[in-house]
Amino acid sequence: MGRVAKPALSAAGGTGEARPFPPDDGKSHRRAIPPCSGARSPRMMHGLPSLHMTTPSRGSLLDIEHLEDKQILDLLKLARRMDPRKPRSLLRGKRIILLFYEASTRTRSSFEVAAQSLGALTTLVQSSGSSIEKGESLLDTAYTLRAVGADAIVIRHPSAGAPHLMARHIEIPVINAGDGMHEHPSQALLDGFTILKHKKSFKGLRIAIIGDVYHSRVTRSNCHLLARFGAKITLCGPPELVPDLASTLAPGLAITRHVEGALRGADVVMLLRVQQERLAGRKIQLQEYIARYQMTAARLKLAKQDAIVMHPGPIIRGLELTSEVVDCPQSAIVDEVRNGVPMRMAILARAFGKN
Ligand code: CP
Repeated sequence: MGRVAKPALSAAGGTGEARPFPPDDGKSHRRAIPPCSGARSPRMMHGLPSLHMTTPSRGSLLDIEHLEDKQILDLLKLARRMDPRKPRSLLRGKRIILLFYEASTRTRSSFEVAAQSLGALTTLVQSSGSSIEKGESLLDTAYTLRAVGADAIVIRHPSAGAPHLMARHIEIPVINAGDGMHEHPSQALLDGFTILKHKKSFKGLRIAIIGDVYHSRVTRSNCHLLARFGAKITLCGPPELVPDLASTLAPGLAITRHVEGALRGADVVMLLRVQQERLAGRKIQLQEYIARYQMTAARLKLAKQDAIVMHPGPIIRGLELTSEVVDCPQSAIVDEVRNGVPMRMAILARAFGKN
């Protein structure tokens, strides 16, 4: 059998140069169909003009790093006005597709509840059981969802930058619900929202982030958010999980290998799960990790008396923290999950310009 040359994939997920359709004269049934010579972009298959936007689609939320201070503060303020117990019809008739290539409980369910609390319709598409399993590209999936009527896409993807790519090729808002080891902006916003429910401001707050910083998109987003508003962040863990390079994430970050040092005087203690699914060959001795870094009630006493304990979840009781800490009065872990709904209502409202 002769070999068939495989065309190179373009950034658009197509197979080469896009050629524009002839202008639509309103007689599309009589429109000349261009000959199938050369490669076509996936947008052409969907009857869309060639599009590679230099800026992401309006209303998208892709990361914290590139948001302006005011945009962050406006979102936090808007979330305070959102209450899922008082449903609103701000997004009535809008169709929001939740496109999840990775597992999720909190983010997925709270975006869904948030969207529905604003009157939007939601559809869940997971990689398992969809045509993604058959090899459909990210952009072909995006154009397909657009064609079925999506007005916005909330996407979680294992590759950093996937939402950014999508937002440059589709004209509807794209919301990043976690992209690989890059960012998880809605989690950082709900964490900021939670902190401000317990503390007056971010300025001068001492925040200890303990655990698997290396794989944590939540930490990346949180460092971008909290450091810019004056919080003093200390990252803590073994070098395999907190490399020295992590101190360059945001200005003023400190690193320590000693949990006691991170905890002394802390106002906020953020714990992170060891992401065993992303370790890929890195050796972590869990028993040693537990002995050195697990948050216990005794260790927590080193932090300020009114310190709050946070964790983006999912939590693994008995690993990065004890059950006693999960359920102690200082724990704001369930509060974070609860706050995810109004925060995501604000994010979705902003996506459609309903500020
Ligand atoms: N915090 C967070 O992203 O949790 P899920 O993976 O359950 O969505």
